[in-house]
Amino acid sequence: MSRIVYVNGEYLPEEEAKVSVFDRGFLFADGVYEVTSVLGGKLIDFEGHKIRLQRSLDALDMSAPEAMDDLLEIHRELVARNEIVDGLVYLQVTRGAPSDRDFAFPGDDVKPTLVLFTQSKPGLAESPVAKVGIKVISIEDIRWGRRDIKTVQLLYPSMGKMMAKKAGADDAWMVEDGAVTEGTSNNAYIVKGNKIITRGLSNDILHGITRAAVLRFAREAQMEVEERDFSIAEAKEADEAFITSASTFVMPVVSVDGVELGDGKPGRVAPRLREIYLEESLKTAI
Ligand code: PDD
Repeated sequence: MSRIVYVNGEYLPEEEAKVSVFDRGFLFADGVYEVTSVLGGKLIDFEGHKIRLQRSLDALDMSAPEAMDDLLEIHRELVARNEIVDGLVYLQVTRGAPSDRDFAFPGDDVKPTLVLFTQSKPGLAESPVAKVGIKVISIEDIRWGRRDIKTVQLLYPSMGKMMAKKAGADDAWMVEDGAVTEGTSNNAYIVKGNKIITRGLSNDILHGITRAAVLRFAREAQMEVEERDFSIAEAKEADEAFITSASTFVMPVVSVDGVELGDGKPGRVAPRLREIYLEESLKTAI
């Protein structure tokens, strides 16, 4: 069965879906996106992703697509048409396709481009990787200064994943002025004693939707949370570490730059938080 994708108001087989070569997402990475996970056919944290999408659009002075109020329906329709049980829905909005390449933003006559597609990932919540954890390396964070906006400028994060792969690791944590900002596509945490430590919110990192939920659940479970900078040296000394994102939920980190944390296996806190996150977010999935 060919996958059905959504482009500017139409549901089409993926082979028939088209976007202009003049689209500013293609030429200037002038676009924003969201990734929402699907478990048991339902969307996790949909409202949070929709609110952040609006925030990204506002920050870039980009018009919302006409279908902004129909996004839930479109997500659900794609999940249904593609028979997604576990997986994700990817959504991208760009500043549209003017008639020529021009650095200046086009006028209001150019409408934003809206594209959504699904990716099926059976058994997403039962990932065997979560049982063993992932290894991260550290790399310099050389991205632009508005990482709180979820833009499609993902070249450096892609390069970071490749650097990790080359080093025999799974992902990279980016470091700026001696402190970890975030993972290439996730937020980063360490655990020392009973304390969960993660960088505070600013323009330096993406305000993860999973991060917000996990910190809320952690506090509700009487776990101590400290939002502050931490270094790679501190991470190497931590009892455990983990990452969060819509596609990995809570994923234990078992080594940093080749140094094993604890006994090199997922600790107590990350697996527990993963359990709580999955249980609680399934209750509000729509
Ligand atoms: N990435 N930080 C960065 C740089 C990210 O790209 C992401 C998400 C996160 C976590 O945000 P959330 O919890 O809202 O997914 C943090 C998505 C999953 C991606 O690019 O595929």
